[in-house]
Amino acid sequence: MSSRGAHKSRAEETAVVGEHSRQLLKAQEEERRRISRELHDETGQALMVLRFHLETLEGGSRSTEQKARIHESLDLLDRTIEGLRRTIARLSPRVLEELGLVAAIRRQVALLSKHREIKAQLDLPDDLRWLDHDLQVAIYRSVQEALHNAAKHSRAASFKVRLLSVGGKLVLEMEDDGIGFSPRAAQQRGFGLTGMRERALALGGSMKIRSEAGKGTRIRITFPITPRSRRSGRGPLAHMPAA
Ligand SMILES: Nc1ncnc2c1ncn2[C@@H]1O[C@H](COP(=O)(O)OP(=O)(O)OP(=O)(O)O)[C@@H](O)[C@H]1O
Ligand SMILES: [Mg+2]
Repeated sequence: MSSRGAHKSRAEETAVVGEHSRQLLKAQEEERRRISRELHDETGQALMVLRFHLETLEGGSRSTEQKARIHESLDLLDRTIEGLRRTIARLSPRVLEELGLVAAIRRQVALLSKHREIKAQLDLPDDLRWLDHDLQVAIYRSVQEALHNAAKHSRAASFKVRLLSVGGKLVLEMEDDGIGFSPRAAQQRGFGLTGMRERALALGGSMKIRSEAGKGTRIRITFPITPRSRRSGRGPLAHMPAA
C-alpha cells in the first residue's frame, strides 16, 4: 500500500474511533439521566414519605428518649435528602436545558465560591445556545470536574474559568492558584482528569494540563468548531467557515 493510502486509512480509523467514543459518551449521559430520574422519582419520594411518618411519630411520642431518637433520625434524613439532591444535580445536566450553558457554569462556580470561600473569576461569552448539545455537555462536565478538583485537592484561594472562540476553535481554560500537582504522577489516581481528556478527544479536541507543586493548576481544552458543533447553523459563529 502507498504511504498516502496508509495515511488515509489511519485518518479513517481515527474518525471511526472518534465516532465510537462520541456514541459511548452519549450512552453514558443517557444512563446518568435515567439513574438521576429514578433516584428522584423513587428514592427521593420514598425518603419524603419516611420523613412525613417520622414527623407524625414525633408529635405523638411520649418519652424524652423517644423524642430525641426521632429528632436525630429526622436530622439524618434531612442530610441524606440534601446529599441525594446534590447527587441528582451532578448526575443530570438537565440544568443545561433549563438555564443554558453559560448560566449553568455561573451557578456551579457561585456554589463553589459560597461553600469553599474560593474567589471566582469568569470570562464567558454571553450566549452559547448555538453550540451542539454534546459539546455543551463536554464543557459543562469539564468545568464541573475542574471545580471539584479545585475544591477537593487544591487549597486554592481563587479559580478562573475562561471560554472563548479563537480561529475556528473553542478554548476552555480553568485555572486555580492552589498547591498544584505533578500531572504524570496523578494519572493513576482518579477518573476525573482521564474522563475530561477522553471527552475532549471524542469531540476532536485536545487537553493540556500545566501544573507544578506550589504554582497552581491550569487546564486548557481546545475543541474544533465544525459544522457539527453548531445547532443547525444558528448563532454568532454560524457564518464562519468550518475549522
Ligand atoms: N486542581 C488541582 N490541584 C491539586 N491537585 C489536583 C488538582 N486536580 C487534580 N489534582 C491531583 O490529581 C489527581 C487526579 O485527579 P482526578 O480528578 O483524575 O482524580 P480524583 O479527583 O482523585 O478522583 P475522581 O475525580 O475520580 O473523583 C488528584 O487525586 C489530585 O492529587
Ligand atoms: Mg477529580
